[in-house]
Amino acid sequence: MCGIVGYIGNRDAYPILVKGLKRLEYRGYDSAGIALRNDSTQVYKCKGKVADLESHASGSDITGKIGIGHTRWATHGEPNNENAHPHKSMNGKFTIIHNGIIENYSLLKKKLGKRGYKFESDTDTEVLANLIEYIYRKGDVTAELAVRLALTKVVGAYGLVVICEDTPHQIIAARKGSPLVIGVGNGEYFLASDATPIVEYTQSVIYLNDNDVAIISEDELVLKTIYNDKLTPHIQNLELDIDQIEKGGYEHFMLKEIFEQTTSIHDTIRGRISVQKGEVFLGGIQDIIPNVVDARRIIIIACGTSWHAGLVGEYLFEDLARIPVEVEYASEFRYRNPIIYKDDIVLAISQSGETADTLAAIKLAKKSGATVLGICNVVGASIPRETHAGVYTHAGPEIGVASTKAFTAQVSVLAMMAMLVGRKKDCLSEEKYINLINEFYKLPEKIKSILEQDNYIKELSAKYVESPNAMYLGRGYLFPVALEGALKLKEISYIHAEGYPAAEMKHGPIALIDEHMPVFIAATKDKSYEKIVSNIQEVKARKGNVIAIVTEGDTVIKEMADYVVEIPETCEELAPLLTVIPFQLISYYIAVLRGCNVDQPRNLAKSVTVE
Ligand code: G6P
Repeated sequence: MCGIVGYIGNRDAYPILVKGLKRLEYRGYDSAGIALRNDSTQVYKCKGKVADLESHASGSDITGKIGIGHTRWATHGEPNNENAHPHKSMNGKFTIIHNGIIENYSLLKKKLGKRGYKFESDTDTEVLANLIEYIYRKGDVTAELAVRLALTKVVGAYGLVVICEDTPHQIIAARKGSPLVIGVGNGEYFLASDATPIVEYTQSVIYLNDNDVAIISEDELVLKTIYNDKLTPHIQNLELDIDQIEKGGYEHFMLKEIFEQTTSIHDTIRGRISVQKGEVFLGGIQDIIPNVVDARRIIIIACGTSWHAGLVGEYLFEDLARIPVEVEYASEFRYRNPIIYKDDIVLAISQSGETADTLAAIKLAKKSGATVLGICNVVGASIPRETHAGVYTHAGPEIGVASTKAFTAQVSVLAMMAMLVGRKKDCLSEEKYINLINEFYKLPEKIKSILEQDNYIKELSAKYVESPNAMYLGRGYLFPVALEGALKLKEISYIHAEGYPAAEMKHGPIALIDEHMPVFIAATKDKSYEKIVSNIQEVKARKGNVIAIVTEGDTVIKEMADYVVEIPETCEELAPLLTVIPFQLISYYIAVLRGCNVDQPRNLAKSVTVE
């Protein structure tokens, strides 16, 4: 978490840094800060968002052609002015910004304390600033060497940018575990946690690898490892469009991203599903498909919404490809001494490609000799670089903290993978395979027709704005959708919500149902339809409010439910891709009507790079 930016060149750094930080606020917004280099280094920082920083800095000297900036998601120390980055070392020699966690910071702090160092904040970052300064002042070393030596003493993760008072025309950047991208301009360089702050200035980027250190002046970039091995920078072309990261007339990124699902699903399947040829082709994992076909089982690892997509994947792979699947929270999996066989496929799912637990679980699985695949949205992120092979979701940048289009893109990729493997294994009939291919192509139109009910969904959402609790139910393929619906509501509206398999309701949650409880039920026509109709009756018998997502033309549930949202018919394997959309919109409108900040909900961050 935390977003970092940097600039060195001939332009004024301040506007570039502020704009960049706003683009990175999805990574945390507890505090913001900036350091600008002139004759000395000026630091402006405060609790709150980047807009608060702008007010805080207004009227001050904000000139400078070199600068660094930070937007924070608090780990060590509460969100306040003192704990905001940048941090200066005690004697002011170094100013640093940091994304990640220094795990051995308390030991280092004690040692530095014994040598007379005092600390103004509770952060691990200030400890690192002082460690660099201590090494610098103690020996006859350059700023760069002091940074590299300090990093050899550090346990943990960092994306780090450092300014030293004695080398005023230089920025030093380093990465281990937390992402850092360098944009290469003409006589200028840009640094950021991801490419979104860079895209409007240059399309040439360098993604730092773990243990890389970049020593940057306005006309030169030297890349080496922290152990001083020289590296040749690999400059890549950025596949990102500025329009993709703007709101494009929508009030919130979340709403824009919900509406983008008509095109994002198309982008995910484009070139991969051919109706003419009647085939699915996934170039990124083509060579690995035989391993998947022969796999003993598939272990899916993920967090949050990606974990819910993984649950849909379990149904898909078991149904279409007859491969046993386990879906694991990455954070539990990695600390559990899991049994992983060489002929297992471990499949990591992540929108950002930076989630610390998922990344660590991948490393563990690789050590066990399993084939590790990835499904990721952000091109060039850490997870796709760590896995043996993978498939990008190509949903475009997702900025809203609550994941929407990434979920449908992940489920689409999982469905394509399961179809491909199922066909190769001969457990999916030609007829069903072709039917799924055809259905896939109809999805964008069907999503469009759901989105056209936007006003109606807004009206029904208004009825539940004051509800303190909500329940979400679904069966089979729609059980993970119930979990996802509940997560969407709780994360952006702060209403307590639970998702359950509809039949499990009888084993506890039914006790919660009374006339105040809205129960959102995914109840489209599939093989459990009759059963879910009975579950709806059970809720109504206890005076619960039922809001059901049903197949177009369903009259049975319409008579029983308080509200229905009708969605076009599709096959049950792809139904999660449609049923989730009304749930996304309902959460969005309830949160907006409650006055919540839907794009930046409290305490959350989009990219969780801490464990
Ligand atoms: C955070 C985000 C969620 C996301 C989860 C996993 O909690 O707020 O939206 O689902 O991380 O992130 P990933 O990038 O690995 O999919």
